[in-house]
Amino acid sequence: RGADAGVADLAGRHVVVSAGGTREPLDPVRFLGNRSSGRQGYALAQVAAARGARVTLVSANVSLPAPAGVDVVRVGTALELREAVLNARQDADAVVMAAAVADFRPAAMAAGKIKKKDGVEPAPVELVRNPDILAEISADRARAGQVVVGFAAETDEVLANGRAKLARKGCDLLVVNEVGVDKTFGSEHNEAVVLGADGTETPVPHGPKSALADVVWDLVAARLGSET
Ligand code: CTP
Ligand code: CA
Repeated sequence: RGADAGVADLAGRHVVVSAGGTREPLDPVRFLGNRSSGRQGYALAQVAAARGARVTLVSANVSLPAPAGVDVVRVGTALELREAVLNARQDADAVVMAAAVADFRPAAMAAGKIKKKDGVEPAPVELVRNPDILAEISADRARAGQVVVGFAAETDEVLANGRAKLARKGCDLLVVNEVGVDKTFGSEHNEAVVLGADGTETPVPHGPKSALADVVWDLVAARLGSET
């Protein structure tokens, strides 16, 4: 383990991490959002920097201090996050999509604040699909050998759903979190299994998000090989 041994095994590497949760505007003051705190993505960025990598952290709506020595690109929406990731990945050795990206956005953003009116039912909100960034960057790699990692939170049939999602996304590794009480959202701790496209399965016991980050970078480093 690079970090355990204090080895800068990611020196000379550029890694991109997305973190947080996107917000999709309904009007100038309202949005559709999610509960991602950004902690797992920030831990991944911090650990990668500690292991010697140059790190670009694409951060969506996170209220955490920027890790030292990490380049932070702030974004709001899924479309902004996509642009920032596509740009940052060009010369990256690895891209880790830890952000919770909204699957849908309002079809249109109201120009002014939506007002209620007595005796009038509210209009339904029409939603459209956001692009799947992980599938896109997996299908069309910016560099040969670029390692792409996704995250998934599942409540049921965790392994079966994770395997299916890994195949659908086309990424190299998928970190599957089991969502439950005191697990994952807003918590300091995580419990996960990392599925590899090569059929490997790496369980990560309940522990701090930095420990999961170390396992992810171990698996990424093993897939990067020795060329720089
Ligand atoms: N993701 C993405 N772009 C999206 C949605 C998700 O890049 N529009 C990425 C996330 O960052 C994460 C992975 O895809 O790394 C899995 O996200 P998840 O929501 O579990 O997958 P979905 O395909 O959206 O499946 P579901 O219908 O279960 O939400
Ligand atoms: Ca989703």
